Amino acid sequence: MGIMEIGKVPVTRLAEKCGTPLLIYDEEKIENKIKSYMRNFSSPLFQTEVVYASKAFGCPAMIEKVKDAGASLDVVSGGELYIAKVSGMNMEKVYFHGNNKTSEEINTALEFGCGNIVADNPEEFRTIIETAACTKRKINLMLRINPKVAAHTHEYTVTAAEDSKFGVSIDHKEKIAVLIKTAADKKVTFKGFHSHIGSQIFEASAFIKAAGLMIGLCSYMEKEHDIPCPWLSLGGGFGIKYTAEDDPPETETLCRELIRGGEEAIRSAGVKTEKIMIEPGRSIAGDAGCTVYKVGYEKIAGDKRYLFVDGGMGDNIRPALYGAEYSCDLAEHMGDTKDKEYVIGGKYCESGDIIIRKAMLPEAKKGDLLIVYSTGAYAYSMSSCYNGTGRPAVVFVKDGRARLVMRREKKEDLMYLAKDQEVKI
Ligand SMILES: Cc1ncc(COP(=O)(O)O)c(C=O)c1O
Repeated sequence: MGIMEIGKVPVTRLAEKCGTPLLIYDEEKIENKIKSYMRNFSSPLFQTEVVYASKAFGCPAMIEKVKDAGASLDVVSGGELYIAKVSGMNMEKVYFHGNNKTSEEINTALEFGCGNIVADNPEEFRTIIETAACTKRKINLMLRINPKVAAHTHEYTVTAAEDSKFGVSIDHKEKIAVLIKTAADKKVTFKGFHSHIGSQIFEASAFIKAAGLMIGLCSYMEKEHDIPCPWLSLGGGFGIKYTAEDDPPETETLCRELIRGGEEAIRSAGVKTEKIMIEPGRSIAGDAGCTVYKVGYEKIAGDKRYLFVDGGMGDNIRPALYGAEYSCDLAEHMGDTKDKEYVIGGKYCESGDIIIRKAMLPEAKKGDLLIVYSTGAYAYSMSSCYNGTGRPAVVFVKDGRARLVMRREKKEDLMYLAKDQEVKI
């Protein structure tokens, strides 16, 4: 019987000091992953840029890691822009995404000195140009394209199907050219195209196919319309291991294949691509984080044996939202035989609040600590205070030391927006 350690600190000690549920990040894993992307995603043919997608998990401590590694940052809202700014991020290295940016958000981006903005649709493209025209600020502008590349992932994380919500269809080349020409001589500088084909994708071939199509589009713009497209972003979406069945490629292999695909496409199209970017989110934060819960009651219902824990869909909506799967252990029984089958149920009042549908564990008892792996991406960032249960605390751990980077949401926090005030009509 062994006790699970993260960053050389026993999980039992972290739970005792910070309470549960607790999101624990292994700082070294985050650092190594960003460094690996920075080292391996490089080419003698073009510049490269690694842009961390902060929607996966964004807080000052995480942004610090991005800054330290010299990477850039992707934000998708005025709120994420604000977090980037107050976290001391170099705003020149920020890319502002999203499909429905308000004029207020666009103004905030300009005011904060955000270097780059990615328009999702023609109306938004024109609004960005008009908003920038009213200010003294300059900003680089890119356009999101839907390259229509099918990748194997969940329906909710596919973003490049024919009828997807995001981007302008790659089929509309003429309309795209007309749109880009409206940006000439304005405060914005058109830099090129962006694509993001989905999330939790394992096949490098899907990204390479998208890269080929996108470079084809750049070539068409350069040759037929004299529109320079020096930058190309291939987005994020690189998969991680959640369960034993998942087999994602190593970062090194993935980068090598992406670079090779990009180089070949650029050479054969003869385009003047200056820079290629990628935007990993999940693959940087995902498996660096895990959640520790305290086991409560056990219940047999039909042929199911439920093990209830003190968190659930409020701190991790992914299983309820799109059937995401996870693996787990009892933190104080590492290495023990796992001969009991449980359904890990959360404490929220929803039948769908099931964290793991089939978990093999040693015999568990009340008070045990259950550790769910790879919860570092899209768990905390999608968390809610449903059922009046505050968000969990987040701790960063490294070399035997731990630091609380997000405190637990308290009951009083749940009331801080409450106000009873007449609205003058
Ligand atoms: C535009 C864009 N870039 C990057 C990402 C990050 O994706 P992932 O976390 O799967 O790497 C997303 C995720 O939705 C996205 O929409």
